[in-house]
Amino acid sequence: MDGLVELKAVVLKRILEAVNQEGLENLRVEFLGKKGEISLKMRELGSMSSEDRMIFGPLLNSIKDEVNLALLAKRAGLDDLALDERLRTEWLDVTIPARIRATGSIHPVSQVIDEVTEIFSDMGFSVAEGPQIESDWYNFDALNIPSHHPARGEMDTFYMANSKSANGAPNVLRTHTSPVQIRSMQSLGAPIRIICPGRVYRADYDQTHTPMFHQVEGLALGKDVSMANLKWVLEEFVKAFFEVNDVELRFRASHFPFTEPSAEVDIRCSWANGQLRIGEGDDWLEILGSGMVHPKVLEASGINPNKWQGFAFGMGIDRIAMLKYGIPDLRAFFDSDLRWLRHYGFSCLDQPRLSAGLSR
Ligand code: PHE
Repeated sequence: MDGLVELKAVVLKRILEAVNQEGLENLRVEFLGKKGEISLKMRELGSMSSEDRMIFGPLLNSIKDEVNLALLAKRAGLDDLALDERLRTEWLDVTIPARIRATGSIHPVSQVIDEVTEIFSDMGFSVAEGPQIESDWYNFDALNIPSHHPARGEMDTFYMANSKSANGAPNVLRTHTSPVQIRSMQSLGAPIRIICPGRVYRADYDQTHTPMFHQVEGLALGKDVSMANLKWVLEEFVKAFFEVNDVELRFRASHFPFTEPSAEVDIRCSWANGQLRIGEGDDWLEILGSGMVHPKVLEASGINPNKWQGFAFGMGIDRIAMLKYGIPDLRAFFDSDLRWLRHYGFSCLDQPRLSAGLSR
């Protein structure tokens, strides 16, 4: 058992010099593993005389303990070094400004549809929708516009070349939202209170007309729903939509095949310095067509005209959007010009709420 002290010195020196955990582990195996140098020496104790064992036993044990302690200390030291290295190399500069993310905006038409929906749902109307490709029956016949009727020609209808309805007539791109009235009466019956916002199509194009535009239809049926109710509902709508306290509406006698009597509705306004003001001044501005639903229309929708009556109206959404937000040219609505969309668009957080004032 010579050289124990030298062995200890060598082991401790090599532990000190280890540069990583792997090297350290190799050292542990080399000296303290099953066939390690110190372990082998421990085994030799068995064949010693008891006097020798009394000397070398404690000596070997203390060397083994010292080596174990040195291994532990070195392991912790290497861990600290590794951590220091990571802290030095892996770091984030949290002061760097975040990357700019492009955000879209809500189109004024979508915003106005949300505003209109908010106002009418407060008055008990729910939203109904229908297809944009319609049969001529829903778009015309059911609305008391038979095939010889001049209104068919006036509407600048787009006819579908390859799409026919049940009676063999070509389908049309709906020219108004009124066919949704028919569909809703058929499926929901009476009483009913709905609005139907959506796209409509007419072959027309200038500063105030585009071949696709938007309307919102209104329909209310009950046992005693009258023109008086129509007037109140429209007044409440206009006040809430244009955010004015008072407004004067003018009902002008008019004609639609699907309403009797019919009225076009104007609101009082002024155009001082090219700025539109709603509710004051000497001008009138047409905003919608309306009337009492024609008995033939009720019949076509399976509703008994002797039991039910009510009003309907149809309003141009793009039109009232232009008026409210001062947008001069309708065609720009559908140009998809990003500069226009950023200027006139709304934030997605700008959700219209009656309780909070409708708009920004
Ligand atoms: N559908 C008519 C149009 O597009 C508007 C309207 C709807 C008129 C309902 C009266 C009643 O011009």
